[in-house]
Amino acid sequence: MADEQKKTAAASPPAKPEDSRQIADDDIIGKAYDGRLMRRLARYLAPYKLQVAISALAIVLKAGSDVLGPYFVKVAVDNYFAPLHRRHSWLAARLSPDPVRGVSQIAALYLASLGLIFALEFVQTYLMQWTGQKIMFDLRSQIFRHIQQMHVGFFDRNPVGRLVTRLTSDVDALNDMFTSGVLAIFEDVFVLSFIVAIMVRMSWLLALLALSVIPLILYATRLFRLHVRDSYRRQRAATAKINSFTQEYVTGMSLVQLFNREQRAFNDFSAVNFENKKAWTDAIFAYALYYPVVELLSSTAIALVIWRGGIYVLHSTPALAAHAGFLHPVVTLGVLIAFIQYGQRFFRPIQDLSDKYNILQAAMAASERIFKLLDTRNEIRTSAHPTPGDGSGRVEFRNVWFTYQTLTAEQQKRIRTLSDEALGDCSDIEWVLRGVSFTIQPDKTAAIVGHTGAGKTTITALMMRFYDVQRGAVLVDGMDVRQQDLTHLRRRFGVVLQDPFLFAGTIAQNIRLGSAWITQEEVERAAEEVNVAEFIRSLPQGFSEPVLERGSTLSTGQKQLISFARALAHRPGILILDEATSSVDTDTEVRVRMALERMITGRTSVLIAHRLSTIQRADTILVMHKGKLREQGTHQELLALRGLYYKLYQLQYKDQELDADEAAAVPA
Ligand SMILES: Nc1ncnc2c1ncn2[C@@H]1O[C@H](COP(=O)(O)OP(=O)(O)OP(=O)(O)O)[C@@H](O)[C@H]1O
Ligand SMILES: [Mg+2]
Repeated sequence: MADEQKKTAAASPPAKPEDSRQIADDDIIGKAYDGRLMRRLARYLAPYKLQVAISALAIVLKAGSDVLGPYFVKVAVDNYFAPLHRRHSWLAARLSPDPVRGVSQIAALYLASLGLIFALEFVQTYLMQWTGQKIMFDLRSQIFRHIQQMHVGFFDRNPVGRLVTRLTSDVDALNDMFTSGVLAIFEDVFVLSFIVAIMVRMSWLLALLALSVIPLILYATRLFRLHVRDSYRRQRAATAKINSFTQEYVTGMSLVQLFNREQRAFNDFSAVNFENKKAWTDAIFAYALYYPVVELLSSTAIALVIWRGGIYVLHSTPALAAHAGFLHPVVTLGVLIAFIQYGQRFFRPIQDLSDKYNILQAAMAASERIFKLLDTRNEIRTSAHPTPGDGSGRVEFRNVWFTYQTLTAEQQKRIRTLSDEALGDCSDIEWVLRGVSFTIQPDKTAAIVGHTGAGKTTITALMMRFYDVQRGAVLVDGMDVRQQDLTHLRRRFGVVLQDPFLFAGTIAQNIRLGSAWITQEEVERAAEEVNVAEFIRSLPQGFSEPVLERGSTLSTGQKQLISFARALAHRPGILILDEATSSVDTDTEVRVRMALERMITGRTSVLIAHRLSTIQRADTILVMHKGKLREQGTHQELLALRGLYYKLYQLQYKDQELDADEAAAVPA
């Protein structure tokens, strides 16, 4: 089995590196039964023990009832139609000796057994589907909850598509197993064993004959399984590719159209689309071949039974029955008829089983991936004994060293032991912040400036403890963020991100963002304060105007102002504003500037600033360069220093002085 896995894995086509990692992960198909996974899955069944027990009972009973029909026919034939020498079976003894009445009794029994099968099937199907849905509900909730509480770094490494797959198709694969797979396997196994038992009891020689084709069927099944498994693997890979391809191209559609890439995009798409179709048709080919083959083999078995069994029946006259022996068994007509019927019922579960095998295999692989996700630990957690800050709004960085890399144990050891200087020389660690120290006093405004990629956004992410620092400490409200309760810590912040994000919902909902304690008045006041209320009211439905996913119907400037209102409405102690470079027009610029003035008064503010106007007002300016805090002071102080800031000012901001003056002249 392990060898097969290696073979199929080796046969998979090479893809782009990150692609192959995702697909390799999404595509492992392992064992059809893995005890460790099964035990863990069984825990999800625990709350529904009763339902499962009833279903299981129904299955056994149904499997039993399934084999009754042919038996009744046999009794009818042997008792009334062609009585050879009555065997006094339990049932025969209880039937009426009058043939007409007896046959009616048997017909009634037959009908009753069908009724029973109907009822049992209903109970079992309904209960199992119900339980399956409950379990899927539980599992999806658990996965979503788990994803939500993962640290931000986790999302840097896990593409959206993969997490969506965990929640949807992987859970569905498990659902298939719960509802049709596992129990149906039990059912098939029960039916098979009941039939074999009853056949052997009726005539072991005929049973041997009927079962003689089994080795061939097993061989065909094995070929079928391997083939289908391979197509199944390719199907999954192709579907994953179609999904990510569509996602990427739909998101970038305007670029595709701008560069007239439609035809090439379509060709690329056709290639994956074709792979998908090919995988499916291969699987269909296997199904189309396998089912008739099993059919053929089972018919052969029945033919054998009719031939040999027929001869036995012909020889089993009352006179000859007396000489019956090992090679001349007595076979009644009823037994022959029952055998033909059992033969027809016997091979269907075998066909089903091979199909179920694939369901199981897919489910095992899906649960492996789901559990892997659930077992990924959140690396950023509240300490066991959180200490609250003093609520002052003071922010301090003490010799902070930080990298986004996941470090090896050896690298971590080096970080613990080396001096700052030696640490800076480690070329295998890409430091984003190198020994950054600064303090922002309560209610003061700090502006962070620096080239793109200098580490500005990173600094703000560390304040909210989206990542943990590798050396040094980040203090908020006079307390190390690692000591504080995460929920409390994050509640202290109001943030406007570089790329404002809106959720699907109304504008008011986006400002409130689930905080029920914010009243409608407060929502409107916040919007007024940031000068966006007028715009919102001009919309057909005002504050109830729906926002589409990602706020795609609004301009970036509008989105930014709405996220200003959102930050303000939550009355944060510390405001973080990651300015988007040039997303706003002059009119909005003035609004934003005025909004900002109001927002930063009375609270500690950290502004990542690209506008000169914002920077000039700041109480302190932090100048970042390649992960280091190079200069710190007020606008005038830093200009006088004639250092990095002075250069930046000459290069970037001097022109803005003019623009800003012009902008101020435009009526708001
Ligand atoms: N999630 C991340 N994973 C890995 N590396 C990151 C991540 N975010 C940022 N970086 C890297 O860290 C460095 C600093 O990024 P940061 O976003 O802090 O820059 P910035 O100063 O805010 O730049 P900008 O002005 O363009 O917003 C960059 O080299 C960037 O490539
Ligand atoms: Mg940034």
